[in-house]
Amino acid sequence: MRESRRKWLRMAGLTGIGIAGYGLTFSQSRENRPISKKSNIPKTNLKERQIPSSGENLPVVGLGTWITFDVGSAAKDRDPLREVLGQMYQKGGKVIDSSPMYGKSESVVGELSQEMEYPDHFFYATKVWTSGREAGIRQMRESLQKMNRKRMDLMQVHNLVDYKTHLKTLEAWKKEGHIRYIGVTHYTASSHPQLEQIVTANLVDFIQVNYSMVDRNAEKRLLPAAKDHGVAVIINRPYSQGSLFGKVKNKQLPEWCEEFGIQSWGQFFLKYLLGNEAVTCVIPGTSNPRHLVDNMGAGVGKMPDEVTRKKMLKIIEA
Ligand SMILES: NC(=O)c1ccc[n+]([C@@H]2O[C@H](COP(=O)([O-])OP(=O)(O)OC[C@H]3O[C@@H](n4cnc5c(N)ncnc54)[C@H](OP(=O)(O)O)[C@@H]3O)[C@@H](O)[C@H]2O)c1
Repeated sequence: MRESRRKWLRMAGLTGIGIAGYGLTFSQSRENRPISKKSNIPKTNLKERQIPSSGENLPVVGLGTWITFDVGSAAKDRDPLREVLGQMYQKGGKVIDSSPMYGKSESVVGELSQEMEYPDHFFYATKVWTSGREAGIRQMRESLQKMNRKRMDLMQVHNLVDYKTHLKTLEAWKKEGHIRYIGVTHYTASSHPQLEQIVTANLVDFIQVNYSMVDRNAEKRLLPAAKDHGVAVIINRPYSQGSLFGKVKNKQLPEWCEEFGIQSWGQFFLKYLLGNEAVTCVIPGTSNPRHLVDNMGAGVGKMPDEVTRKKMLKIIEA
């Protein structure tokens, strides 16, 4: 067994399983595992926020899988992702966001999480990204299969594609217990008025939108509307696809960041977003375990107040 895999199994709570017995014990535990088995989650201080429609708590930092999880079966590609999931488990992160649009990502999430002792620890979110009722149902069934789920935690209409059709199916699926929550997503400011209408009509439990320190349209109307109407908010592209890091290359963090436990620019960018109370969870995408740990660190400690957030913005705008 490769050292990185062994390390991942240890992180994922599989310590003590002998190498020779690993395959047997592992597959036995998978077959016999009760669906609702809860994780023995390590105690962490990752902050949580409530999903307004249910009162369930979600950790404020999750994981996106666009590009990063679209890989083949080579160990060199999969091992870092195993470690990303193992570290996420250790740090208390839960939300994993995928989509049928992301190539092999759904399958990779499904396969790697099933190898872990507690796959039910995570909060699985994916999307429907097609037109027509039947095509939508077919695609969502495939997603359940690929992600190894009997029930999806959150099913979102990707980029609002044929959302009126899919929302009807999702309502029915929620009643029948195939999904737990309904959402819609987009990644451009031009979609925000339409998302706001959906929010104010109380059609969804979640919206997922673009919001970063250089892409702040959501904070004008959409996030306040979500807060007022009790809709949970997941933030995509929190680093504007990584481009934010270019703005601070070779720059030191201000000393006052210590007060907020900000130890990196990544945490600086994410804590700015989490300082907005309408935000339920941010989902930076990464295939790098060190970055995953860094990102999870943003969900710990004091969050910036409005005065501090203005100070943060000035630094980025400068
Ligand atoms: N319409 C939609 O529904 C929609 C649209 C866009 C995105 N999304 C979702 O939102 C997720 C996040 O958006 P995104 O992945 O496009 O962009 P992002 O999270 O803003 O940025 C991802 C980039 O940041 C880098 N990165 C991550 N953590 C880092 C850290 N701590 N330090 C330095 N670099 C770091 C990653 O590289 P490394 O791999 O090297 O860490 C990657 O290149 C997606 O994965 C997807 O799940 C949904």
